[in-house]
Amino acid sequence: MVLFTVSKVETTPFDGQKPGTSGLRKKVKVFMYPNYLHNFVQSTFNALSDDKVKGATIVVSGDGRYFSKEAIQIIIKMAAANGVRRVWVGQNGLLSTPAVSAVIRERVGADGSKASGAFILTASHNPGGPHEDFGIKYNMENGGPAPEAITDQIYENTKTIKEYFIAEDLPDVDISTIGVTSLGGPEGEFDIDVFDSTSDYVKLMKSIFDFESIRKLLASPNFTFCYDALHGVAGAYAKRIFVEELGAHESSLLNCTPKEDFGGGHPDPNLTYAKELVERMGLVKTNYQDEPPEFGAAADGDADRNMILGKRFFVTPSDSVAIIAANAVQAIPYFSAGLKGVARSMPTSAALDVVAKHLNLKFFEVPTGWKFFGNLMDAGLCSICGEESFGTGSDHIREKDGIWAVLAWLSILAFRNSDNLNEGKLVTVEDIVREHWATYGRHFYTRYDYENVDAGAAKELMAYLVNLQSSLPDVNKITKGIRSDLPDIVQADEFEYKDPVDDSISKHQGVRYLFEDGSRLVFRLSGTGSEGATIRLYIEQYEKDSSKTGRDSQEALDPLVEVALKLSKMEEFTGRSAPTVIT
Ligand code: G6P
Ligand code: ZN
Repeated sequence: MVLFTVSKVETTPFDGQKPGTSGLRKKVKVFMYPNYLHNFVQSTFNALSDDKVKGATIVVSGDGRYFSKEAIQIIIKMAAANGVRRVWVGQNGLLSTPAVSAVIRERVGADGSKASGAFILTASHNPGGPHEDFGIKYNMENGGPAPEAITDQIYENTKTIKEYFIAEDLPDVDISTIGVTSLGGPEGEFDIDVFDSTSDYVKLMKSIFDFESIRKLLASPNFTFCYDALHGVAGAYAKRIFVEELGAHESSLLNCTPKEDFGGGHPDPNLTYAKELVERMGLVKTNYQDEPPEFGAAADGDADRNMILGKRFFVTPSDSVAIIAANAVQAIPYFSAGLKGVARSMPTSAALDVVAKHLNLKFFEVPTGWKFFGNLMDAGLCSICGEESFGTGSDHIREKDGIWAVLAWLSILAFRNSDNLNEGKLVTVEDIVREHWATYGRHFYTRYDYENVDAGAAKELMAYLVNLQSSLPDVNKITKGIRSDLPDIVQADEFEYKDPVDDSISKHQGVRYLFEDGSRLVFRLSGTGSEGATIRLYIEQYEKDSSKTGRDSQEALDPLVEVALKLSKMEEFTGRSAPTVIT
């Protein structure tokens, strides 16, 4: 057996290692500074209780982006030196974020071991490559992101760190080959277990959905399907699940080979960045001659996000979670006993609220960030949840889950078409959404993103908006001056959340202006960027009248957009006359 020794290496703190909404994200070149990654990893070990480190099993993997392979070797050596008993690594270092969550919760090692946490190496939907982003976050033994108490402690540790531990003489491990490597250190045996990236996750999906009915849907000549992984890690799962398990044709997969730089693209599944899919689905005019597929979907780099499309039709993420919740009990075996409750993040539209009311379900509105859902799920209060930022999921794991969302939609389509599948008339994605609007009303919705804005200017804009809130009459005077046809603003505040499970309070979670008719303007600073600031503006209008739910979304939202931009003095503060991305 190879023996390794432990070195204690002196180091000094780096500024700015505060984990954001989903871990620490920086440019690759920053992560490559000597000791930069080491400091963060050691600060994480130091923030965890001893039993989560000494003798423990931890998972290390990610979306395969540039610098992942080097990072994995470093973390393995530091885990060994910190007394970890075994490290589980997905083959080639690949595990989607939802798969990591599933592995923590479900996987049992040959000797009965279970993982107590995971380092996930991803910057999610941010581009990858030598000049782009890398990221790292820690998930706990429930499979969800570390709570704020831990991430705050990690940050504190990064500010005072003086030394880290590493097994420098431990040889690099071949992570491309499945199998266990056993080594010995001062504290005993240390194993690195490289395992198949997809099997635990596939097993879990098969226990949730009726694969047979989805297989029939995909086999029907009336149904056509397309999935775009944007060269992220979802490609590995898409091949296994959609092609091998469910019989979809290989040609239904777009960009499903994971790449370190995501093929130079921006692996974010929205109408701007999933360009090829959007063209194929007929949402923009192109040279494609073929009839668009009936169903299309995309994922982000680490496969936790999803975008759902019908033929020439976009499903907003806020509608998607509402529609999944409305149909889950009938269409998805995992939910057949009923839903425990549903939840959405604050900026997500209120479409889910209406479903919850109709179905008499517990309902929660939480701040942006998946960890808030995790608490509710651990307490048995929530089965299905979603966010406007293309995240949808359930209590099967403690992360959002891009492939799960696609399987949920395929299940609904299979259920709705079970009688007439081969008779030529298909109930389409668009039919399902329009029916939903007719029943529950429609929430017109759009989001404007101003990326890489000067951080000071962004703060000033937010402070200005908070300041305005001190007088509602003044706010209304301004808005009526811009558009006299809009209803009154009846409430304006900063969203604050008291977690019903642990009573923790999260303040300053977004600036809200709420109109009398249920319309809303929300302003928030992104917590996931790596440079400058990103301002997000969320605009929503509720329409109950079924004769008006078919209106063009942009046209319906026009007055609110105008008010939002002028009220916030967006151009004045940011110097931007248009957003970077509209979703
Ligand atoms: C990540 C989190 C989501 C969150 C999103 C918001 O994807 O996992 O829970 O909704 O970031 O990002 P933002 O950039 O708006 O803070
Ligand atoms: Zn992601």
